[in-house]
Amino acid sequence: MSGLFAREARFLFCINENYNTYVDKQVLLAGLQKEIAANASLPLMPSRLVFGEGNPNAAVLFIGEAPGFHEDQQGRPFVGRGGQLLDKTMNEIGWKREKVYITNIVKRRPPDNRDPLPEEIEAYKPYLTKQIEIINPKIIIPLGRFAMNYFLPLAKISRDQGIAFKVGERVVVPMFHPAAALRGTGAMNQFRESFKKLTGILEGVINGTFAPAAVESIGPAIDQKKKQKPQQKLF
Ligand code: URA
Repeated sequence: MSGLFAREARFLFCINENYNTYVDKQVLLAGLQKEIAANASLPLMPSRLVFGEGNPNAAVLFIGEAPGFHEDQQGRPFVGRGGQLLDKTMNEIGWKREKVYITNIVKRRPPDNRDPLPEEIEAYKPYLTKQIEIINPKIIIPLGRFAMNYFLPLAKISRDQGIAFKVGERVVVPMFHPAAALRGTGAMNQFRESFKKLTGILEGVINGTFAPAAVESIGPAIDQKKKQKPQQKLF
């Protein structure tokens, strides 16, 4: 495929240009899934494995934090209320769930939906790294603070969501977690506004006309200020 139609198609259908790799990637992902399933040393074992799903050749990779109750029940990522919002917001910008790929940093549900622990994130990291390598997306969209800090340790979700950053060779656009958007009108409005920017970012990345922000532009400025408050006299 070449010319305008190819570019439009890649943009509209959120797919990478190399169609030949679709089956290869599918096979590699299936192999990786078997590998995780067979690793009995991984944490959160009593929970069901939620590997991820979608187009193996997706240009867009959404990454959440960890499966919740409904995901654990169904073995699929983002199928609860948050997932419904994700699907709806994607549809609003002309994207379809089956054209992108969706996964989590931690592939099993933590008890009572508690936050994933650093050691759990670390244990599943080699698998997420491999999953990203296989899919090789044009943009990665971490959903929520945990997924964002996996790629951008100094970023703050309220300040940095919706901004495209260059992380190594990849473009990472952190967004609010859909569950956070469901909790308040402010976050919901920002979530939807940031989604509207995604089509332009993806098109620019595919065309090579988009310049993402440097990771170095994320300063610990806010925290630094707090730290620099004059210390109370101790004596
Ligand atoms: N929240 C997440 O972070 N991931 C899911 O798959 C579901 C809810």
